[in-house]
Amino acid sequence: MTLVAGIDSSTQSCKVVIRDAETGRLVRQGRAAHPDGTEVHPDAWWAALQEAIDQAGGLDDVAAASVAGQQHGMVVLDENGEVVRPALLWNDTRSAGAAADLIQELGGPDKWADAVGIVPVASFTLTKLRWLARNEPQNAARVAAVCLPHDWLTWKLSGSTDISTIKTDRSDASGTLYWSARTDEYRPDLLELGFGRLIGVPEVLGPTGVAGRLPNGAPLGPGAGDNAAAAFGTGAGTGDVIVSIGTSGTVFVSSDVSPNDPTGTVAGFADTTGRFLPIVVTLNAARVLDAAGKLLGVDHDELSRLALSAPAGADGLVLVPYLEGERTPNRPDATGAIHGLTLKTSDPAHLARAAVEGMLCALADGLDALVANGAAANRIVLVGGGARSEAVRRIAPELFGLPVLVPPPGEYVADGAARQAAWVAAGTGEPPVWSAAAPETYEATGVPIIREQYAAARDYVVDRSR
Ligand code: XUL
Repeated sequence: MTLVAGIDSSTQSCKVVIRDAETGRLVRQGRAAHPDGTEVHPDAWWAALQEAIDQAGGLDDVAAASVAGQQHGMVVLDENGEVVRPALLWNDTRSAGAAADLIQELGGPDKWADAVGIVPVASFTLTKLRWLARNEPQNAARVAAVCLPHDWLTWKLSGSTDISTIKTDRSDASGTLYWSARTDEYRPDLLELGFGRLIGVPEVLGPTGVAGRLPNGAPLGPGAGDNAAAAFGTGAGTGDVIVSIGTSGTVFVSSDVSPNDPTGTVAGFADTTGRFLPIVVTLNAARVLDAAGKLLGVDHDELSRLALSAPAGADGLVLVPYLEGERTPNRPDATGAIHGLTLKTSDPAHLARAAVEGMLCALADGLDALVANGAAANRIVLVGGGARSEAVRRIAPELFGLPVLVPPPGEYVADGAARQAAWVAAGTGEPPVWSAAAPETYEATGVPIIREQYAAARDYVVDRSR
């Protein structure tokens, strides 16, 4: 049996799966936690990866490995390959002002959409580099190269300390603002605009490129951003829109066409197969459920039970879930809000329902934007920690108005990385096809009133947080 390893270095933890390269059967796995916060030293990811690999029985017997990870985080290295300062993560909003400046300096959002398929928001790497250049000039002066979390971990696994050997892949490069998925090229002019000078960037590999070798000689695949890896891991096909409810909320499809959305709502990322991954990303997803549970003093099961005991639309109670600011719409300083409190709606069940509906409505807005930008949407594939909530699974079809398929709980990002590793190990033209367990299906039942009352409350909050 040939074994392959897939790694998901996500915001909150690191997961390793070891699978049979031919069938995809799960053979071993491990996981370890990451520290909290939006600024994390990459050494903490490395330590967690070692722990997760140990738990998974090591990598000595694998024929290939790939690393997927949280996107956009700024890892800056000096000329000796030392980390200059802790990484600023995708959900760190301190570079919101830098994003606004960059939009203005290039002549407007449409210029960015044309150049690289995405419009600056605080999440993207270049805005963080600009923040560094302006706020920490001494650190900025030491920077010789920039890379992303998954690039850095792949490089560390390869044992190299030479910054000129760092590699990345198309999916993660497409979230930097200085690489274009449409032209498959870096835009050094934009890197220079943002940081003030040119620095080293990783070589961008194609879908089965080799980024280095493990100590046993096995190739390391190019890896991927976590969303692209999830698309690959679920094996989603045309018309399947993936909605992932994790630390971030994401709505995306694999597509032959790269969107060009000057509003910045739909980002034109790349996927893991040489195609594109139009995507909408919210900052507030699974943690909205955590926060609602904390407010009510209940666990996730009870939150779900309460939500399902209240009527659809929660009798007009709406929760706008901007608990960490928001990225889509771009309101980094917004806060959450509850609208429609009455004597009737002032109870735990209504609040639980409003939290689930509010979080899902923000994602349903994302689906609308994807469709408006040309995506085919026949059904939703719901994944991520939030999909474990029965209330989320049952309420989702009311808001998406499409059938919702829920695959069994799993590590789909790590699985996507493992599938890529199997592709690299085989060296064939086509990715391996692994059979998947049957999903649960929830039929489409659109309930328009929920979307309408949410839109009114959302617009109120958005207008007041400009
Ligand atoms: C994507 C994004 C998030 C992170 C979360 O643009 O910022 O989905 O990748 O890990």
